[in-house]
Amino acid sequence: MQSTYKAVEVSAPGVLRVVERPIAEPGAGQVRIRVEACGICHTDAATVTGVYPGLTLPRVPGHEVVGRIEALGSGVSKWKIGQRVGVGLIAGEDGVCQPCRRGDMVNCENPVVSGVTADGGYAEVMIAEARAIASVPDELTSADAAPLLCAGITTYNALRNAGLRGGDLVAVQGIGGLGHLGVQFARQMGFHTVAIGRGRDKEKLAKDLGAHIYIDTAAEDAAAVLQRMGGAKAILATGTSGGAMGPLVSGLAARGKLIVVGVPGDQIQLNAFPLVFGGRSIYGSLTGTAIDSEDTLAFSVLENIRPMIETAPLEQAADAYARMMQGKARFRMVLVTKDGVARGVKNAA
Ligand SMILES: NC(=O)c1ccc[n+]([C@@H]2O[C@H](COP(=O)([O-])OP(=O)(O)OC[C@H]3O[C@@H](n4cnc5c(N)ncnc54)[C@H](OP(=O)(O)O)[C@@H]3O)[C@@H](O)[C@H]2O)c1
Ligand SMILES: [Zn+2]
Ligand SMILES: [Zn+2]
Repeated sequence: MQSTYKAVEVSAPGVLRVVERPIAEPGAGQVRIRVEACGICHTDAATVTGVYPGLTLPRVPGHEVVGRIEALGSGVSKWKIGQRVGVGLIAGEDGVCQPCRRGDMVNCENPVVSGVTADGGYAEVMIAEARAIASVPDELTSADAAPLLCAGITTYNALRNAGLRGGDLVAVQGIGGLGHLGVQFARQMGFHTVAIGRGRDKEKLAKDLGAHIYIDTAAEDAAAVLQRMGGAKAILATGTSGGAMGPLVSGLAARGKLIVVGVPGDQIQLNAFPLVFGGRSIYGSLTGTAIDSEDTLAFSVLENIRPMIETAPLEQAADAYARMMQGKARFRMVLVTKDGVARGVKNAA
């Protein structure tokens, strides 16, 4: 077996470069995964630019990882060599902080974060905590499963935990990696589904993904359109602009919720009136745990939900990342390794 593997690391802020690294053995409670595919999430920008709290460089980004287990650390009993698994962003909890002790592992105060505190999936090999990996069903290709492990779980969990009922008017703002999956989940969960984007170019795609209605914010005031429809019970804000999020509160029905999953760099400005008069609320939602990932994957198989992806070889990570940052990806860039190709994952180049 080879003693080294290829990885793409952030060596300095803004610099993604291909490197060769020695293969390490997994520690106690860990597994070593032979990576087949890894999605490129917008959150990777916080690693690439070096701003993610707690990050030290060099670091391999990537937290939408699918591959096969090739080595087990001591004490790992649940998983088997050869099993196909996935790793998301929050990839291990400490088990001792207050949120953990209350069973709220996703909000662990000292988590293992793929691509931030530990090397992630822009690589041929990744070491992961066995307690935080998810089993990947056979129905999904590795390239299709990968985006479901962050973009998918984040939107799926936010929607399913929002206290909504079938038929509720639910809007998804931002039709990117997260949003294009959010639209599919909202539709398949039985909601009256509205997609909110900028410009007409994504309208057909959004409707093909299941949106009943598309609102173009370049031409219309999204909040006013939603109010004409009776007001949204929830708006899932996935975009990277805080300026675009605040005004959406006025599009909510009484008791409606603006669920923030996008993490813009700018502030979200809020007007107190629609919050107070109508009891509307705004809160954030952070991805989910490994078992939530398994739920996301299972629901996607059940309802035939798949990400729309563009694949690229691992070695072209920098170009693929740039394409995502430019908003050109439709809708998720997925890096495929040589093992992924050998296992039948199709690659664009
Ligand atoms: N909460 C979590 O656990 C979690 C998990 C993953 C990602 N995230 C965050 O979610 C956000 C989206 O990630 P992604 O991977 O989906 O990114 P992406 O594929 O790059 O998509 C970016 C989205 O932002 C929208 N956008 C960009 N500029 C905008 C503007 N000025 N006004 C309105 N919308 C704008 C785009 O909307 P259009 O469709 O109109 O072009 C697009 O839908 C990022 O901030 C990421 O860090 C959070
Ligand atoms: Zn992500
Ligand atoms: Zn904890």
